[in-house]
Amino acid sequence: MKKIFAANWKLQKNPAETRQFFAEFKKIQTSKEIEVVFFPSSPCLEAAAQSVVDSQIKWGSQNCYFETKGAFTGETSAQVVKDLGGHYVLLGHSERRTLFHETDSEVSKKLKLVQSLSLIPMLCVGETLDQREGGKTKSVLEAQLTAGLSLADKTLPVVIAYEPVWAIGTGKVASVEQVRETHADVATILLKLGWSDQTPILYGGSVKADNSKELLSIPNVSGFLVGGASLVADSFAAICNS
Ligand code: PGA
Repeated sequence: MKKIFAANWKLQKNPAETRQFFAEFKKIQTSKEIEVVFFPSSPCLEAAAQSVVDSQIKWGSQNCYFETKGAFTGETSAQVVKDLGGHYVLLGHSERRTLFHETDSEVSKKLKLVQSLSLIPMLCVGETLDQREGGKTKSVLEAQLTAGLSLADKTLPVVIAYEPVWAIGTGKVASVEQVRETHADVATILLKLGWSDQTPILYGGSVKADNSKELLSIPNVSGFLVGGASLVADSFAAICNS
């Protein structure tokens, strides 16, 4: 299975900065045996699409609506992502869930639509610090995966990104033991839900070049979803090359 290295740019970079990033990133050699995916903000998707058209680099949007068109002011159409040549849609990121009150039920409808367009959903799940300290991590993940995947087609690809909420943008990376245990739990839950053992499970939360090698050696870690460290070409390439 190819390892997946995904960059979540959140609300960073404008189209010119997006083009500049790819001009630099494409000069750095990364393995052909990995999948590299970028999630720029919606106004930068076309700049990203044009920048990577002659490469193996994949891209997608950070969210979408569960309808492809209509009177839905402010939303992103997965159909347009598809039309522009995109491959993925990130869904259920903790910032979407917390700041924009996105529910598991909305995430499941979005995921169904994304699959129906032959795009690959990357479903984010993760526990808060309170939930971890209260011993609820496994049940929270099971509930998010069960609900988020409830309308999914198991014959089509899905990528899971496990991101402990307390490790996102905080510099607090989960310990090797926590990642080992939680990824094993996610793999078990996916099997129980009837998903293939080949379903990729990425880790996300303060991944950097200096911790990526160790994290990547943990069983059931199929790659990373990287925020802050993906904004600079050198540092993200170093993670991809770990
Ligand atoms: P971070 O963000 O790498 O900056 O912690 C990860 C994410 O939000 O996907």
